[in-house]
Formats: sequence, C-alpha cells, structure tokens
Amino acid sequence: MSIKPLITFRKVKKSFLGKEPLFSDINLEISEGEFIFLTGVSGAGKSTLFRLLLGLEKPDDGSIKFNGSEVTSLVGKEMLQHRRSIGMIFQDYKLLEKRTAEDNIAIPLQIKGISRSVKSAKIKDITHKLKISQILKQQVRSLSGGEQQLIAIARAAVHSPTLILADEPTANLDPRMATRIFDMLTLLNEEGMTVVVATHDINLLKAHKKRILLLKQSALIEVH
Ligand SMILES: Nc1ncnc2c1ncn2[C@@H]1O[C@H](COP(=O)(O)OP(=O)(O)O)[C@@H](O)[C@H]1O
Ligand SMILES: [Mg+2]
Repeated sequence: MSIKPLITFRKVKKSFLGKEPLFSDINLEISEGEFIFLTGVSGAGKSTLFRLLLGLEKPDDGSIKFNGSEVTSLVGKEMLQHRRSIGMIFQDYKLLEKRTAEDNIAIPLQIKGISRSVKSAKIKDITHKLKISQILKQQVRSLSGGEQQLIAIARAAVHSPTLILADEPTANLDPRMATRIFDMLTLLNEEGMTVVVATHDINLLKAHKKRILLLKQSALIEVH
C-alpha cells in the first residue's frame, strides 16, 4: 500500500446559518489505497464531510486537499475534473429508473467522451467483477434494492476513479445484501481504489476490522 496522502483536512470549520457549528476543527488524513469507515450518529455531519470533499459545500475556514490540490480554490473545469475523479454511492442509489442497468453504468464514460469500444470493454469488465452481467439489460425499476445498489457501485467504479465515497450504502438493505455490497467495495479497494464508507451500521463496523473515523461533538475521533 502506498503512503501518499490522498485526502487531508486541516483545521476545517463548518457551520450552517442559524445552527450550532457543525465542525469546529476537523483534521484528517487518508492515504491512497486505504479503506475507511466514517461513522457517527445521524446529523453528525458524515454527508457534509463528503460534500466538502466534493466541493459542493465550502468550509468557513481551513484547508481541504485532494491529490495535491486545494479543493476550496478549485473553479470551473478543474472543479468538474475533481468531482469526476470521485465515484459516489448513495443510500437511495440515485439511478435513472426508466433506463437499463447498462445505460446507467455507461453515464460516467459518456461524460468523459470515451469511445464505444473502450466503453463496452469497461462495462463488461466491471459487471463481470461485480457479478451483475445477467441484469445489465433490465430496466432499473424492475430490480431489487440490492441489485440497484450493485448497479450504482458499477456506475461509480466503471471509470476507475481514485476515490469511492459511499454514503450509507447499506442503510436500506438486509444484512445478507449489505454483506455483498461490502464485499464488492472491498474488491474495488483491493484493486487500488481508496474507499470511504459513511455508515452507522454497527454490525458492518464490528464485522470488518478497518480504520474507523468517528464524528462526535463537532470533532473527528480515530477509533481502532
Ligand atoms: N445545506 C444545509 N443547510 C443547513 N443545514 C444543513 C445543510 N446540510 C446539512 N445541514 C445540517 O448539518 C448537520 C449534519 O448533517 P449531515 O451531514 O447530513 O449529517 P449525517 O450525514 O451524519 O447524518 C445536520 O444538522 C443538518 O441538518
Ligand atoms: Mg448522511
């Protein structure tokens, strides 16, 4: 595993109008190739931390670095490129329900303007890996929640992003499916992608010995 820092938060402060400050001094370092759990009660700020990293929210103060760039000062094309280097996975999948699984997985490749032949090779590769080849031609809304999440993972990973952020990816799934989702995220991590999973699923945390970051009372605590 490389020890190059991929993500660095330094003295990050964030508050929302009319509320107690959410983060008063967040410091964080994640190296390339790590698998991390980000945990904390609902409202602790897990999704906000992801949004800060994506540049969808600006901190009140402090520095957020990703792959050597200061995220807080990226604009225009650089910000778009930054966001494209991160694959996002959400609790509610956020797929285009009337389109096929394959159409959804193709989206990041289309945005990048990748040729038809490379596109189909990449789709084939990721769907084989995630064992979802047999549902590729199905309309998303005909699939189960777990199958939809596997499609969302394929969409997030198909262009081999540097980082995968999964925000409560198993919150709507039964334990068996949650395990399968977790196994797939582990597989992507073993292939070199850095993975950060926000979850309050205690069973998931207990079952897997990974580095855990806990958001509590506007600070970030390392739990081993
Ligand atoms: N855009 C926003 N405007 C105002 N308050 C927000 C906004 N986004 C998040 N918050 C507040 O910040 C806190 C943390 O939210 P969130 O990051 O979604 O927590 P978590 O993902 O850990 O449940 C909550 O109190 C939430 O209401
Ligand atoms: Mg959240």
